[in-house]
Amino acid sequence: MNTPPLPVALIGCGQIGRAHAGHALRGQDVRVAAVCDPGPAAAALGAQLGVPHFADARALLDAVPVRAAIVAVPNQAHADAALACIEHRVPVLVEKPITDSVAEGERLCAAAESAGVPLLVGHQRRHSPTLRRAKQLIVGGVLGRPVSVHAMAVWLKPDAYFDVAWRREPGGGPVLINLIHDVDMLRWLVGEIVEVQAIASNAQRGFAVEDTAAIALRFANGALGTMGVTDAAVAPWNWDLAAGEAAHYPPQDIDSHYFSGTEASLTLPRLNIYRYRERRGWHEELTQERTIVHRADPYLEQLRHLRAVAEGTEAPLCPGRDGLRTLQATLAVLEAARTQAPVRLAAG
Ligand SMILES: NC(=O)c1ccc[n+]([C@@H]2O[C@H](COP(=O)([O-])OP(=O)(O)OC[C@H]3O[C@@H](n4cnc5c(N)ncnc54)[C@H](O)[C@@H]3O)[C@@H](O)[C@H]2O)c1
Repeated sequence: MNTPPLPVALIGCGQIGRAHAGHALRGQDVRVAAVCDPGPAAAALGAQLGVPHFADARALLDAVPVRAAIVAVPNQAHADAALACIEHRVPVLVEKPITDSVAEGERLCAAAESAGVPLLVGHQRRHSPTLRRAKQLIVGGVLGRPVSVHAMAVWLKPDAYFDVAWRREPGGGPVLINLIHDVDMLRWLVGEIVEVQAIASNAQRGFAVEDTAAIALRFANGALGTMGVTDAAVAPWNWDLAAGEAAHYPPQDIDSHYFSGTEASLTLPRLNIYRYRERRGWHEELTQERTIVHRADPYLEQLRHLRAVAEGTEAPLCPGRDGLRTLQATLAVLEAARTQAPVRLAAG
């Protein structure tokens, strides 16, 4: 028997908020029951969806009995909007990064924990069928002991993207906006990051914010990694283009992430596994095996999961503390680049 979709509040109706509204319409798990955004276009979105519109999150939560909320406001407004949901005992999915600072993230996590209200962070890649399969393989020991990982986040943002002032300023660059997804992905698949070294450059665009960075990582389990990010080069080597899971990115048949261990290696998103069938050693022949998983839209799956968490049948896949740790590791990249010194993080 089909159960009716869960009523949710959409707080923030900009680019990603509207995308969430579209996904809610496409899926059967949640329905947007009210929207909140002080911007001029949001009332029209409410009218289009046939739901009430509010300019303030608390006013919405006082008036409409929602069972969950999605917070898709600018980073600096995440904490306040999510705290309003927690005060109203409404499970909340906060877009990434959890907040704009570690201190605000701590405050938010503490509030959610003491109220016992689920807090989820929108690292949607964790809902990708490809990454779920990769996680099964890695956790299942197919690679043996993790040795190294190499992640690429290389693409060209169009010039018009930078017409918005904050995207040219520190905090608006590819490390905090984009690479944070790769940091979360590596933490989820390989384990906790305990040391970060980095160099960054603004030489391509000349803005105050970085356009390119090269990063070295040490994981708690002893594995090492590298990440390269730029939004100023022509290349297909990034997760979104390679995975082709989001409709607005034309998919490419390439890999962007490489994992190696003592027994085998794995490329993503193509899920190629390389290992020795018989004798081991660099002169021996490697066997390649490829798994093709069923495709699914991670944003849609994230909404199904939000419902399951709100109904108490699933635990958050990316709980607040996990999202906070991803923010810390991502901020460590900027700190390491700024100070030209390694940044060490607690093992967890
Ligand atoms: N997970 C992803 O793939 C992904 C993609 C894009 C953006 N994001 C994240 O989503 C958030 C929003 O990004 P965006 O690109 O949609 O930004 P945006 O600027 O397009 O939209 C933000 C909206 O929030 C509204 N807003 C501002 N303050 C508000 C408040 N206090 N209450 C309600 N609404 C408020 C603004 O009027 C605007 O319409 C950011 O944190 C960003 O990092 C995530």
